[in-house]
Amino acid sequence: MATPPPHVFDPSALQDGDEGGGAPGGGDFEASLRPRSLEEFVGQARVLENLKVAIHAAKGRGEPLDHVLFSGPPGLGKTSLARILSRELGSHLHSTSGPALERPRDLLGILTQLQRGDVLFIDEVHRLPAPVEEYLYTAMEDFSVEFTIDSGPHARVVPMKLEPFTLVGATTREGLLSAPFRARFGIAERLIPYTDAELVAILTRSAGLLEVALEADGAQRLAECSRGTPRLANRFLRRVRDFAQVERAARVDRSYASAALARLGVDDHGLEDLDRRILATLARSPDRPVGLKTIAAAVGESEDTIEEVFEPHLLRSGFVQKTASGRRITSAGLRAIGVKGRENGENFR
Ligand SMILES: Nc1ncnc2c1ncn2[C@@H]1O[C@H](COP(=O)(O)OP(=O)(O)O)[C@@H](O)[C@H]1O
Ligand SMILES: [Mg+2]
Repeated sequence: MATPPPHVFDPSALQDGDEGGGAPGGGDFEASLRPRSLEEFVGQARVLENLKVAIHAAKGRGEPLDHVLFSGPPGLGKTSLARILSRELGSHLHSTSGPALERPRDLLGILTQLQRGDVLFIDEVHRLPAPVEEYLYTAMEDFSVEFTIDSGPHARVVPMKLEPFTLVGATTREGLLSAPFRARFGIAERLIPYTDAELVAILTRSAGLLEVALEADGAQRLAECSRGTPRLANRFLRRVRDFAQVERAARVDRSYASAALARLGVDDHGLEDLDRRILATLARSPDRPVGLKTIAAAVGESEDTIEEVFEPHLLRSGFVQKTASGRRITSAGLRAIGVKGRENGENFR
């Protein structure tokens, strides 16, 4: 039996990694499973409903769609929705990201290429440098920009008209956007974690595309461990498919899925190695809240990654409580890592 190397959780796989297309089986795999239309997009019913109305209205007026901001944790479908929007609008999609736009000049080059109604997708829009963000303001509002030609005494500021376009921004950190920037998005939608039933629907569709014989109870098991995140669900499915292929397993049912997950380092609570290390760090001082910095240093991961990728699941599962002064493990959290909690209740005060 060929056992893959011990599972090392790679948070970057949750963060983006879908546009790179370089990693073996990574980018292409995600691209192949991306929903291509609003019909294929599972869940987020309220968001989809709002988008449909907005698209319909914009088309009816013959105007470009209002600027759209998608926020929410990694892997929930922001990039997929941006692509779907441009397809539904029948327009071209131009993709870039906050960190890639270092100077206003980088942005100008893109803006001047846009045709009427095109979608400009800026991923990680909270990471736009401030001068670039400010440069976007008039582009978003009036579809015009100013730029300087020549330098020194001959320098002149020249205004330029742009074709009306739709800016679609995606962010995992909506709170980091400045108020004036945020206010310039006519449509702002927050994606929320998926229910297990929605993840089962996504997994079932993916299993069909990947030709894995995934049973309903197997899909359920994978969904339960996927932290409400389609990207993670699809990643687990891909790994389980590898096991099943190598071992010539005919079907992936619940027990096969559980065994595969265990080999990937995912326990019955859906916790991965880093979750358990975070919990272990908190368990060392169950009576005192621990700051994010301390946790990050203890487990050797960035504060951002802990806050965006790991903490939401720990909070939702009730293993960790967040207080003004830090994070604290609950008795359920202690039990999950096999430490005996105190007699009465969640609070150790
Ligand atoms: N609503 C959905 N329905 C089906 N698959 C989805 C959905 N949302 C996300 N996915 C899957 O998860 C992957 C990651 O989604 P993506 O749009 O890249 O997330 P984000 O940009 O929010 O990080 C996609 O490639 C797709 O396979
Ligand atoms: Mg994305």
